Amino acid sequence: MSGSSSNNQRILVGVSGGIAAYKAIVLVRRMIDAGCEVRVVMTEAATRFVTPLTFQAVSGHPVRTTLLDAEAESGMDHIALARWAQRVVIAPASADLMARLAAGMADDLLTTLCLATEAPVQLAPAMNRQMWAHPATQANYARLLERGVTMLGPDAGSQACGETGTGRMMEPEAIADALLTGEGAGDMAGLEAVVTAGGTREPIDPVRFLANRSSGRMGFALAAEVARRGARVTLVAGPSTLATPAGVRRVDVETAAQMQAAIESIESMDLFIGAAAVADYRVARPAEQKLKKNGASLSLELLPNPDIIATVAQRGPRPFVIGFAAETERLAEHAAAKRQAKGMDMICANEVGAGRGFDTPDNALLLLWQDGERVLPRAAKTQLATQILDTYLQIKQDSSHASR
Ligand code: C5P
Repeated sequence: MSGSSSNNQRILVGVSGGIAAYKAIVLVRRMIDAGCEVRVVMTEAATRFVTPLTFQAVSGHPVRTTLLDAEAESGMDHIALARWAQRVVIAPASADLMARLAAGMADDLLTTLCLATEAPVQLAPAMNRQMWAHPATQANYARLLERGVTMLGPDAGSQACGETGTGRMMEPEAIADALLTGEGAGDMAGLEAVVTAGGTREPIDPVRFLANRSSGRMGFALAAEVARRGARVTLVAGPSTLATPAGVRRVDVETAAQMQAAIESIESMDLFIGAAAVADYRVARPAEQKLKKNGASLSLELLPNPDIIATVAQRGPRPFVIGFAAETERLAEHAAAKRQAKGMDMICANEVGAGRGFDTPDNALLLLWQDGERVLPRAAKTQLATQILDTYLQIKQDSSHASR
């Protein structure tokens, strides 16, 4: 694990009420094993899931649960506790806690500490997928992000309620990794980045759609790496069960039109990475009811989708634009033409077909930009993500030298 300098941090772990509260025990344990000093504050609801005694045993310090506790306040009062913390991490952060924080409430110890502290506040949301997707929660989430709160997750996958979707708390080990690697301090700190990932789904009728083989792995790996290097990242993802990388804001979409709308709503960006396999066509008139077979042939009229990356490349002011090209032949030639046509700054080209490129954990890439090229031999997509971003930073550095 990198970031050893951040291993003696003073971390305030807030636990709010949700079944994922038990996972916070592992988080506290990990942070202490890494050399951090941890104090735990629980909401009243959290104590219904896990006892304060458990966190006291793991953290080695009494656990605070109430604001107006005369005895506790005579020791380290809430303002002193807020000052003591170098970081506040709330895991799990329930829908209710997010709503109270977004409204600026201070109706219990944990929310009061969040208002009183100057330390960065990070949340690991955890809730049922419907609660997560609710416009009220999404508005609170957006408001908290605007105020500089960092989000760790949530992940997609199976939930304690038996449903599957986005809303699971990020695994405690991944939260600990994010805290210990010191986000916000990397070589991309201060940048706003947007990454698209996965394939889109274009509906034919309520139960059928046109899709492709994209797994989302490349885009998720890029989003993870961009966040690890300190940038603020929005990941606009087509349907995927991959876990949301640490520190990444994720917007789930299905169709190319939704992806386009999600990106249009993001006003400023310094870097745009289009790793999604966006469907080139959509069905002109998706059927409202399930299509019935009648033995006859069936034709679908397809309309072209907007080219998202080309639209982004025409923005003013425009971000640095990195795109992908999957080609079955004449890789360099086709990719160079695509880069020009879409106005990308850099294109990452790979050969596809016969089990290469799509839906695989590794790949080989040819990077092309205005003044150069770089061959990235076959490697894990996580490693390729690092090399792509190293190349991006190198290009930026070279162009700033050239313009001096
Ligand atoms: O033209 P082609 O689909 O091969 O281009 C691939 C690149 O263009 C990828 O970066 C992909 O994310 C982007 N793209 C897009 N919108 C589309 C089609 C592709 O942003 N409608």
